[in-house]
Amino acid sequence: MNTVLVINGPNLGILGKRQPHIYGSKTLTNILDEMKNLAKEKKIKIEDIQNNVEGEIINFLNEKFLEYCTSKKEVNKKRLIGIIINPAGYTHTSVALRDALEVFKQENIPIYEVHLSNIFAREDFRHKSYISPIANGVVSGLGSYGYIAALQKIFELEENV
Ligand code: DQA
Repeated sequence: MNTVLVINGPNLGILGKRQPHIYGSKTLTNILDEMKNLAKEKKIKIEDIQNNVEGEIINFLNEKFLEYCTSKKEVNKKRLIGIIINPAGYTHTSVALRDALEVFKQENIPIYEVHLSNIFAREDFRHKSYISPIANGVVSGLGSYGYIAALQKIFELEENV
């Protein structure tokens, strides 16, 4: 089954309760359930992680890189078709996270960066993203719909393969 990775960084596990005027009232589970339902209709699997620890997210990405991108190509092998990431606070700080994502570029796996809020309408320190220069697209300020939009873009790319 083709797979999309959905990665959520720190403080996104408390969505719904965390500053709902900024991040909305949906929980991360609500958002992921919606994404998984849409993916199921397309027979696509979503593998997700939310973690507050930078190194854990990088470990996950390294594992998925080895699993999907370096094993021998076989017929019917499950394929990684996209990555959707809300790096949260690490957006603005993490060279290591960017490096861990960048390896997927050599495999032409599209990477979409999602932010619930419009990071450009907020504090100056949020205007800089280490991830955007290596992302195929960035969605910021559309709330939870940003995740859905990114997923639909990945579906569209798949349909045109
Ligand atoms: C965020 C924006 C980041 O600046 C912030 O650190 C987050 C969430 C968003 O989804 O709007 O934790 O990525």
